[in-house]
Amino acid sequence: MSMISFATGNTNPETFPSDAFADAASVVLRGMATALNTYPGKLGHEGLRRLMAQREETRESVAVDPDHILITNGSMQAVTLAAEAFAPNRGDIVVLEEYCYVGSIRAFNAMGLEMVGVPVDEHGMRTDVLGQVLDRLAREGRKPGFIYTLATYQNPTGAVMPLDRRRELIALAQRHDCVVVEDNCYGDVHYEGEVPRALYALDPDPRQVYLGSLSKIFAPGVRLGYLMARPPLLERILARRNDAGPNTLAAAITHAYLHDKLWQHIAMANAALKVKRDTLLDALNRHLGNACSVTRPAGGLFVWIRLPDDVDPGRLKEIAAGHGVDFAHGSDFHIRNDAGPYIRLAFGYPTVAEIETGCERLGAALREARGSASR
Ligand SMILES: Cc1ncc(COP(=O)(O)O)c(C=O)c1O
Repeated sequence: MSMISFATGNTNPETFPSDAFADAASVVLRGMATALNTYPGKLGHEGLRRLMAQREETRESVAVDPDHILITNGSMQAVTLAAEAFAPNRGDIVVLEEYCYVGSIRAFNAMGLEMVGVPVDEHGMRTDVLGQVLDRLAREGRKPGFIYTLATYQNPTGAVMPLDRRRELIALAQRHDCVVVEDNCYGDVHYEGEVPRALYALDPDPRQVYLGSLSKIFAPGVRLGYLMARPPLLERILARRNDAGPNTLAAAITHAYLHDKLWQHIAMANAALKVKRDTLLDALNRHLGNACSVTRPAGGLFVWIRLPDDVDPGRLKEIAAGHGVDFAHGSDFHIRNDAGPYIRLAFGYPTVAEIETGCERLGAALREARGSASR
């Protein structure tokens, strides 16, 4: 029995355009002698920066300067660059959703940052609590280096922050003179409904810093993300960049493939992902019954599940491994590793048939895990 994994936010290999990507590579590589024999500079491949500026302009209806974008090694490098720029010392404070992307939590921990958590509900970061947190920190004379938020398709909960909360977050950041780093890694992985505009599009203040990625709309293996910042914060970020710039080869091939079909590719990839999301929701409904509460994400790659009170998520994971299915434990996404009653299922990578079988296995594991906890 091979393991079916819902554990990681990998994307869908079935929609990766292998042949067309290979064709784009062979065309573009022939003209790259100079580009590949010179260092890329701090901003990186100009064509890809222009394309990402157009992507942002199309989604957000604002003008974006390609010279305010730096291409990074995935958006993960953008997370660490922003943290190094705005919270450079051990003990500096980052205010963030208390359930958050595990990679960012690990990076902030490794940098010795103090993470101050704000609870998340079905509408994302609780901005009423954010206000209290910022007031308390101000009373204590402790200014946060930045607020880090996943406002759209929050990882792990899938929540989308509505417009009124976005405006409240902006007002609070202004009142406390605080930098906001908005990580929009899943921004265009979109299935239905309206998405409010990004924070940077609602607020021209240069303290709005924005991170994007090609991982989730194209392929994480190309390791292409970007950071967008306006002067003077842009200079603070650039001063931190000491890797001689991003990978020209990956950027050039990806640009050559996507430049005239970005939205066409996104639409095709999202249509296939939506089938996987719907298969997962339908199968969970049949195999978990109403024992659990299950989110219905309008975008992104994750379903967030609240387990019944008598199920220990760690024990469930062990039992599930015996049944040949894996998922992420909710505590991995908590800034203090708190063991809440949650698990996260990622549905981008497994096939539709695997999703169906994986849910059947999960249902069997859940029945076996009943009574493993008392809350
Ligand atoms: C919220 C969030 N930010 C950043 C990343 C890093 O992605 P990448 O470096 O592949 O762009 C991820 C990956 O899952 C993520 O979920």
